[in-house]
Amino acid sequence: MILDRFRMDGKVAIVTGSGRGIGRGIAEALAETGCGVVCTARSADQIETVAKGIEASGQRAIAVPCDVNERADLENLVAAAMKEFGRIDVLVNNAGGSPPKAALRTSETMFNHAIHFNVTSAFLMSRFCIPHMLERDGGSILNISSGLSWMVEAGFVAYGTAKAALNHLTRLLANEFAPRVRVNAIAVGSVETDALGPFLENGDLKQKMESLTPMGRLGTTDDIALAALYLTTPASSWVTGKIFEVDGGTVASNWPLDLSGV
Ligand SMILES: NC(=O)c1ccc[n+]([C@@H]2O[C@H](COP(=O)([O-])OP(=O)(O)OC[C@H]3O[C@@H](n4cnc5c(N)ncnc54)[C@H](OP(=O)(O)O)[C@@H]3O)[C@@H](O)[C@H]2O)c1
Repeated sequence: MILDRFRMDGKVAIVTGSGRGIGRGIAEALAETGCGVVCTARSADQIETVAKGIEASGQRAIAVPCDVNERADLENLVAAAMKEFGRIDVLVNNAGGSPPKAALRTSETMFNHAIHFNVTSAFLMSRFCIPHMLERDGGSILNISSGLSWMVEAGFVAYGTAKAALNHLTRLLANEFAPRVRVNAIAVGSVETDALGPFLENGDLKQKMESLTPMGRLGTTDDIALAALYLTTPASSWVTGKIFEVDGGTVASNWPLDLSGV
């Protein structure tokens, strides 16, 4: 059965930022493939809820609190995964972000933070997990990038630059570790999560974003989880170093606010 290539029975995935939003959707979807899941974010209550839900559905899951900006937390996360499951097959670097801000109002600290949060943390997690993947059957890494890694929009100088670097980190690691470890990314369009929440409260802005999206709606966490399933399972065993655009068909930014100026 071709659908069997989406099965991950006996495998183990770490999904960062899996307490809510896109990361939660990916963690729950991976559990449906038979994969054990390590749920991680800073809010212990949220990751425990997700892990308990996965366990209730019959799969193994643990919750390990972690701030991806803290190297010691990342080391502890990987050690906890190895202690509980003895293997790591999939890493999803999902935790990331950076608030929109006009370029001349973006401080050095904010810029550096965007790079650390979106790129350095993904690099370190890859460094810590790849040796464990190589000890076994190899593995697959998925980086959650953004359409703003290639589209231009005022207000996203830190975020867009960081996600563009994440895209190239994806290609460089894919090249270095093929064929044993595959590395891909999803350039995510506008998805209704808490991260967009404050902007979506204004119904006019939401409508504007929808009208600027060819598919006529914002994304759901399931839309991204479905792509993540393809990219992390053997279904995509001939795919590495690629940035998949999952964005409702946008070819230009659908950001509804003008954040240009000084
Ligand atoms: N939503 C969109 O429209 C959109 C579009 C393009 C790309 N993306 C990307 O998709 C990813 C997820 O975004 P989302 O919309 O799902 O966000 P979200 O709903 O706000 O969820 C973010 C998750 O990451 C965790 N997190 C935040 N800071 C963290 C840290 N320092 N260390 C560890 N975990 C942390 C959060 O939990 P805690 O706060 O408890 O740590 C939460 O579980 C991000 O990389 C974002 O750039 C989103």
